[in-house]
Amino acid sequence: MAVGKYAMSKATFYDEAKSYWEQISPTVNGMLGGYGSISNIDVKGSINFLKPMLLCEWKERVGSERALDCGAGIGRVTKHTLLPLFQTVDLVEQEQKFLDQAPAFLDEGASKIGKYICCGLQEFVPQAKHYDVIWCQWVLGHLTDKHLVDFFKRCKEGLRDGGVICVKENISKEGYVYDEQDSSVTRSSKELTKIFSKAGLTILKEETQTNFPLEIYTVKMFALR
Ligand SMILES: C[S@@+](CC[C@H](N)C(=O)[O-])C[C@H]1O[C@@H](n2cnc3c(N)ncnc32)[C@H](O)[C@@H]1O
Repeated sequence: MAVGKYAMSKATFYDEAKSYWEQISPTVNGMLGGYGSISNIDVKGSINFLKPMLLCEWKERVGSERALDCGAGIGRVTKHTLLPLFQTVDLVEQEQKFLDQAPAFLDEGASKIGKYICCGLQEFVPQAKHYDVIWCQWVLGHLTDKHLVDFFKRCKEGLRDGGVICVKENISKEGYVYDEQDSSVTRSSKELTKIFSKAGLTILKEETQTNFPLEIYTVKMFALR
């Protein structure tokens, strides 16, 4: 079996990721593995991807009442991408230390937070028919394929009518690439697409993030339903 696939079958796959994140500082740089400087470009790309779906110009218009930030960390995506576009945002994150830091990091934006949920996505069940957008960024490589399919199926149930799941993740050229530092896998577009399809999700929109440093992975955004 290829290393990446094998890594997900190890009993320690989740524990090793947890140990990694436990020793990371609750800062933007910590969230981005030392690449804090790309946060603004990332946010711009995400807003350009998301905004047209919330406006009339997109044929399948999405509501802007409530979003969920998955693997939210200290709330970097919530603060800069989701709070400017949604009335309320909930955060789900497995590391309590990051959630503890979130209100101070979000500052005034904290008043628009619904819930801070401390839970691994492999176990998390969103409230049914609750969210216009479920945003998953730089976290899905921490789930095994089986858990990711099941997580997406639960997310589908958590969408309001017209809602979408958005995925923004690193993309490998081929197959699975295992990162033993944080115990995650990077999947190719082909592997991710297979998982979307197993979960019964259709890709409504797909874009590649531009202007990131050349030495990092290609990053893609998908809107799914
Ligand atoms: C690379 S950081 C990204 C944080 C945030 N999405 C961002 O873009 O700023 C990954 C985050 O996922 C969290 N995480 C790792 N494994 C997780 C899991 N199984 N369930 C939920 N969160 C997880 C980590 O604690 C960390 O906060």
